[in-house]
Formats: sequence, structure tokens, C-alpha cells
Amino acid sequence: MAKTAIITGAAGGIGKELARRLAERNLNLVLVDLNEEAVKAVIAELGLNDSNSLAVAADVSKEEDVQNYVNKAVEKFGSIDYFANNAGIEGPLGNVEDLSIKALDLVYNVNVRGVFLGLQYVVPVMKKQKSGAILNTSSLAGLMGAPGMSPYVMSKHAVIGITRSVANELAPLGIRVNAVLPGTINTRMMRQIEKNSGNAEDYKKLNEAATPMGRYGEPQEVAAVMNFLLSDEASFVTSSLYTVDGGMVA
Ligand code: NAI
Repeated sequence: MAKTAIITGAAGGIGKELARRLAERNLNLVLVDLNEEAVKAVIAELGLNDSNSLAVAADVSKEEDVQNYVNKAVEKFGSIDYFANNAGIEGPLGNVEDLSIKALDLVYNVNVRGVFLGLQYVVPVMKKQKSGAILNTSSLAGLMGAPGMSPYVMSKHAVIGITRSVANELAPLGIRVNAVLPGTINTRMMRQIEKNSGNAEDYKKLNEAATPMGRYGEPQEVAAVMNFLLSDEASFVTSSLYTVDGGMVA
């Protein structure tokens, strides 16, 4: 029987490329994002159909939405073998004294609460199956500071914390939990951060200069590592942090 994967943030740059890789393995895909139309466009682009895919509109920060996407996945496909807990937002830029507490709540609700809720509903399903692999999308910002991005940086550090805690909880059952830590990747999110910086061109040049490989990564390059972690090839890999950053953290 075909295995099933859930991807949140599936209409975004990285999520869509992961969906493409997982579709090549003939997995059933449950694609989750805020906007059902955007997910349906991904399904059409990847040549998926009703029998091997499901589009679910959900705000990952809302418990009832998370419960709904998990229930729908189980109802339609009977198992959840892989879970890419990937949806995230960048939030506003600004030094800590200039940001409102609302900026923190906004980013935390999606990047931390959303990841936590996803785990709360997916883990019981995997425990019952006694199998599964989970991949949380953190960021290089989960290891380093980034001026002007303290809520985002805090949230991505938190994703590393929960990855390691839940990995330890599930390791005895053989259920793996890892995190991917992208550097600067060519997606809508980076375009938005560049724009918010006030000088997109300079911001991009600074980022490229800070990356030993001298360029942004492509979402396909992140998806390749995610695809590995969400496969049996990574059968002894758990509680690990995989940077995909052109050497930036070195
Ligand atoms: P993106 O903006 O292209 O995709 C993010 C997707 O998440 C969008 O489709 C958006 O609609 C969805 N989303 C946002 N809030 C949501 C919510 N409340 N509920 C459901 N879906 C929601 O950005 P990208 O780059 O594909 O980001 C994917 C993940 O990678 C994020 O967690 C991001 O923080 C992380 N990341 C991205 C980096 C980059 O340079 N692009 C670097 C490091 C990490």
C-alpha cells in the first residue's frame, strides 16, 4: 500500500518542491496551506489526482484546523507515514524595542504553536502505527541571531527545542523526528524579507556575501535533503539538525 505524507505550507516555495519529490516516490500527499486554491494549483502542476492527493485549507495555528487536516488524512488514506511540519512566516522586521508584542504573537502562533499542534495531532497516529518520520522546518535562524528578526529567530530556536524533545520521546518506538535548517533560499519569504529591509538589492548582496557559496539556495536543494530525511534511507537519523545553507553557519 502506498505511504502517505502530510506537508504544511505546501503552496509555498519549499513545500511545493518537497511535494514534487514525494510525488516522484508515488506517495499519497495531503497538502495543507491557508488557501485551498493555491494547494489545488500545486496538485494540478504536479499531475496528482483525487486518488493520490488531498488539498486541505488550514491555518496551522488553529487547533480545530490542525485536527481537521490530520483527521482528513487518516480518513482518506488510513495512515500518516511522513509529516513535514513546514508552514512558517517571517513576520515584521525591526529592532526589539521597535517591534510590538503583536509581532511576536503573530510569528509565534504560526511558527511555534502551529508546529506544536501539528505534533500533538500527528504523533498519536504514528504511535498507534508504531512507525513514521517527522521533519520540522526550522532555519539557520534557529542556530544564529539575525538583527531585526528577533521573533522569527526565537521561533526557529523553539522549533529545534521541540524537535529534540519529541525525537527523544519517540526514538524508542522507532519514530524519527528531525529538523531542516535552510539558509537563504529563493522563495516568496526571502523576497518579502528583502522588501521589508527597505533596500532589497543591498540586503540580497549582504546575504550572498555572508554565504561562502556566494548565492541563495533554491527550494529544490532544500527539498532534496527533506526528501532524504522523510525516507527509509535515513532510518538511523533522529534528533538531527540538517543545515542547507551553502556553508553560512561555518
Ligand atoms: P513561502 O512563504 O514560500 O511558504 C510558506 C507557506 O506557508 C506559504 O504557502 C504560506 O501560505 C504558508 N503559511 C503561512 N502561514 C500559514 C498558516 N498559518 N497556516 C498554514 N499555512 C501557512 O516560504 P518558504 O521559504 O517556502 O518557507 C517554508 C518554511 O521554510 C518556513 O517554515 C520558513 O520559515 C522556512 N525557511 C525558509 C527560508 C528561506 O530563506 N526561504 C530560510 C529558512 C527557513
